[in-house]
Amino acid sequence: MQCIEQDSLNRRRSVYSLSSVLPISENCFIDTVESCVLHCPTPFNVQSARVTILFDKKHRLLWDTLWSKLKGLVSGQQAASVHQKIEAFKRANGTILFFEDKKALSSLKKKFPLYAKNMRIWTQQANGILQYMIWQTLAENEVGASLQHYNELLEDEIYSLFDLPKNWELVAQMPFGAIESEPAEKTFLPVEERLKILR
Ligand SMILES: Cc1cc2nc3c(=O)[nH]c(=O)nc-3n(C[C@H](O)[C@H](O)[C@H](O)COP(=O)(O)O)c2cc1C
Repeated sequence: MQCIEQDSLNRRRSVYSLSSVLPISENCFIDTVESCVLHCPTPFNVQSARVTILFDKKHRLLWDTLWSKLKGLVSGQQAASVHQKIEAFKRANGTILFFEDKKALSSLKKKFPLYAKNMRIWTQQANGILQYMIWQTLAENEVGASLQHYNELLEDEIYSLFDLPKNWELVAQMPFGAIESEPAEKTFLPVEERLKILR
């Protein structure tokens, strides 16, 4: 039984089969991401997440750079499947990069020393909330996406490639585009094992 509208929650999936034609205009896409960045909750309203949207050449450059790093680390069948996966990301419309501003985090720790040891956890959680807000809102607009973490491999290159400040710590990559094929059905653990209602 569903008492309130929640169908849109099922629409967000990890979509790997993406094409480059967006079902919404680029302006509308940028506007959507901007709204999520603005309205995402953050600890002490620090707003330490930073976001970059890569389109066209810059998007393809990201995935070519990743492959140039990865190809020396894999061989044989594994190399073929990793290359195939990266080429699929490259065929998408673009990629959103998520960062955390290290300067904002250190100012926050200084301002609230009592909570200093938790601040990194909380800012990372807020970054995750932002990733989810964008992922979910895009899904509601028929834009598919997935969440990737090639941080260590991209870290050395990304600042010079895209002229970004070095104090932005790379957190995640989200390739997005039109949904070419739906992901496989998802399995769920029994919800009673995960949710307790107490009175
Ligand atoms: C914090 C987090 C990290 C994830 N990292 C990756 C990743 O690095 N690569 C990937 O392909 N999927 C990643 N995923 C996607 C999960 O594998 C996926 O959400 C999960 O299998 C459920 O599938 P769904 O997204 O289709 O609902 C991540 C998801 C979350 C929430």
